Amino acid sequence: MAAHIRMFLQLILCMQFIYVTKSCILLLNGWDPLSIYERTEMADVVVGANVLRAFKTDRTEAGTYTAEVKVLDVYKGDELMRNISTSEYKVYNVSNFGDKTMCYADLTEGAKYILFLTIYNGRMSAKYDDIFGAASDFSTDNEQQVLEYLGWFQWSDWSSCTTKCNSGHQTRTRTCSRENVTDCEGQAFESRECNTFSCEDQKDLLSYLGVPKLPLGVSQNVQRPTAYIITPRAKLFLPVATLYDVTLPRDFAIILTIKLQSGFNGYLLSVSDIQGRQRVGLFFGDEEIRMDYLDDNYFGVAMPTFDVNVTDGQWHQLALSLSGNDVTLYQDCAIVLKKRLERSRVSSFGSNLMLSVGPYFPRYGNPFSGELEQLVISEKPQTAKYQCSVQTGHRIEPINDGSLVVKPVTMTTTESLPSTTTQVFSSDWSEWSSCSTTCGRGSQSRTMYCSNNVLSLESCLPYSSTPVQTRICYLQHCKEPCPAPCLNGGVCETNGRCRCSLGYQGDHCQDAICHQACQNNGVCIAPNQCACPNGYTGNTCNQPVCGHGCKNGGKCVAPGKCECLSGFSGPECKPFCFQICHNGGVCTRHNVCRCPKGYSGHDCSIPVCSLGCFNGGKCVAPEKCSCPRGYRGQYCHKAKCRPKCQNKGKCVAPDTCMCRRGYFGARCEQFKCTKQCKNGGKCIGPNKCECPPSFHGRRCHKEKCSMKCLNGGRCRRNNKCKCKKGFAGKTCEIRNCKYEQYTIPYKRSYRRVVREEFVTKCGPWKWKRCVQTRMKYVTVAKETFRTAYRCV
Ligand SMILES: *[C@@H]1O[C@H](CO)[C@@H](O)[C@H](O)[C@H]1NC(C)=O
Ligand SMILES: *[C@@H]1O[C@H](CO)[C@@H](O)[C@H](O)[C@H]1NC(C)=O
Ligand SMILES: *[C@@H]1O[C@H](CO)[C@@H](O)[C@H](O)[C@H]1NC(C)=O
Ligand SMILES: *[C@@H]1O[C@H](CO)[C@@H](O)[C@H](O)[C@H]1NC(C)=O
Repeated sequence: MAAHIRMFLQLILCMQFIYVTKSCILLLNGWDPLSIYERTEMADVVVGANVLRAFKTDRTEAGTYTAEVKVLDVYKGDELMRNISTSEYKVYNVSNFGDKTMCYADLTEGAKYILFLTIYNGRMSAKYDDIFGAASDFSTDNEQQVLEYLGWFQWSDWSSCTTKCNSGHQTRTRTCSRENVTDCEGQAFESRECNTFSCEDQKDLLSYLGVPKLPLGVSQNVQRPTAYIITPRAKLFLPVATLYDVTLPRDFAIILTIKLQSGFNGYLLSVSDIQGRQRVGLFFGDEEIRMDYLDDNYFGVAMPTFDVNVTDGQWHQLALSLSGNDVTLYQDCAIVLKKRLERSRVSSFGSNLMLSVGPYFPRYGNPFSGELEQLVISEKPQTAKYQCSVQTGHRIEPINDGSLVVKPVTMTTTESLPSTTTQVFSSDWSEWSSCSTTCGRGSQSRTMYCSNNVLSLESCLPYSSTPVQTRICYLQHCKEPCPAPCLNGGVCETNGRCRCSLGYQGDHCQDAICHQACQNNGVCIAPNQCACPNGYTGNTCNQPVCGHGCKNGGKCVAPGKCECLSGFSGPECKPFCFQICHNGGVCTRHNVCRCPKGYSGHDCSIPVCSLGCFNGGKCVAPEKCSCPRGYRGQYCHKAKCRPKCQNKGKCVAPDTCMCRRGYFGARCEQFKCTKQCKNGGKCIGPNKCECPPSFHGRRCHKEKCSMKCLNGGRCRRNNKCKCKKGFAGKTCEIRNCKYEQYTIPYKRSYRRVVREEFVTKCGPWKWKRCVQTRMKYVTVAKETFRTAYRCV
């Protein structure tokens, strides 16, 4: 009650002074504005919002204008807001800002505010409980007061997205600070869709860089296992050519989920060229995110910069797109900021680029450190929009066991809303908008407008009727991708079926067509080409295969089976013989054996002795005769004497020796000495004596000489020495000498004194020449003779 009175007073005062001074701020000196806490209590809806557009030139009579805001957080009035339609996710038109009768807090495009609102005729409107208007600056302190009133602690960070692409969801929670949970207004859980871009449109750089393998300097965040802690020691880089054929695409999007410590100042991602220059750099600093872009065709590095504070130790989802000359930053799926980037129409980066986490070249600053959960690059810049911006249409409520449950909630889409509009309200529906998709399921909407073109809808619309209707529209089937790739040159048609190239059939054109069916379990592997099983060949596998072919006119009738002409048999139709070909003989023609060497006969059983066998011998093996008694030899051509003929006697017939001269007897073993051997000699052959040592001669009749004769004497018969001339004695040891005198010459040498003359200088002045004499020794030899004697 007191608050209302105070508000009333404020109103009166404000109205009075507005004529006095243009500035409301001066007026407020000494006044106590309502606290955020109180204003939260009074407002029906309290939101944190980012002003996208303020239509200040388009004012109502009261001087108010409408602002288009993106709602970042609904603190209060969640239920009420659900009845308000919006064309875009969480973007609303809020009317009645800037009421000049109040001390309006004006809105600035791009700024963040906490808005205190009410719902009026299905639209959101500013609520003036306080002369400061319906907006207060968005700050942590102010937000804290709102939450305090509601009883909530701050929302947690959004959880990790459940998938990396193709749409997952993420949640955040908050806890009630009050003892009784029901005393807190609003939900404790929130969920939204995330990574709704297609997997094909993105490249997960963390995987490309091998981060999940935890290389040096990288570790896993234990509390958030999909996040990685990157320290300055980590070296994470890869050639751009491993991502894209040659160079970085001209337009691209980079999608990040990161946590940076306060005070971080450096590059998170960079693309460098081979000349050592950083061509693209994503710089994060205190209160700014900057994109460095070096285009060879422009002077210097372009640096579109966003005034955003993400170095606060919290998780942030950021997506940056570069398309044409626009750089767009999506911050935490709520705020969209756009900057211009001057660059040439074609990429000037060239090949040989290196992408790295942090700067690749140290002169660009310190290595990156922080936490990374998502680092994605996409060739399609619009992918950035889909990091987490699509409403789920689902609300998450805690249930008894404390786990989360997803409950669908009916959306504002109503197919057949009965048209409650009547001429009374003089309003009408617009045409349905075109369907949001060109195929498949989409949505379309129509809006109510006032027939008489009055400015505000409120005046013609019935209270609580929805001024916008949405319905589902369904156009023709979308072009379905073929469920599996079309093989063998097949083409995927719009109906999702494969049109096969000639010679193929099947859902995926996986089956080749053979016009003549493959026989004998052959498989058609290519058009008109059968793969035959073992044992068959031919275009249709109709020809059986016989290992080495069928010989001698035989025919192959089944795998490995020949049908032979008569006289031939076996798997290969070889000739056959009724008789066995013995001794290695080979059946070469029907009933004909070809015998090996040494055998003959029709079955090769007869051995051959080329010269025949003599003396009644029998051929028993090739060149081998079996001989009768008394004969021997290969052909039995030799007689056999047993015992053998001795003394070189010759066996001429069985047991018949022919002896050499001087021998006789049956085996030529006997002989005779016709004259007896003397001196004890022994007859050892025909007329041959063996003599005792000191005898010799044919009959040992001669005595041998055993004397040792000296001085050249020789032993003669009867053991006597015959001496040389001049010697005598039994062994010629005595010399008979007659001495004879003779002379022998010899040389004798001695020394002799001789006189020698010589010339010298003489006189008192030594310049006269005189001849003088001196004595000298010489050695002289003289030949003489002496007498000697010799024995003759
Ligand atoms: C929302 O609108 C429906 C019908 O238009 C109404 O029954 C319901 O009470 C409304 N909800 C709130 C919270 O105003
Ligand atoms: C808000 O109003 C403007 C101007 O009338 C319109 O262009 C825009 O689409 C509206 N936005 C929403 C979310 O309805
Ligand atoms: C909590 O509040 C609800 C509704 O006000 C009440 O029914 C319930 O008994 C309260 N619980 C406790 C523990 O105070
Ligand atoms: C950025 O955020 C951090 C952490 O919340 C804070 O300490 C710092 O003052 C902020 N900077 C600005 C300019 O708001």
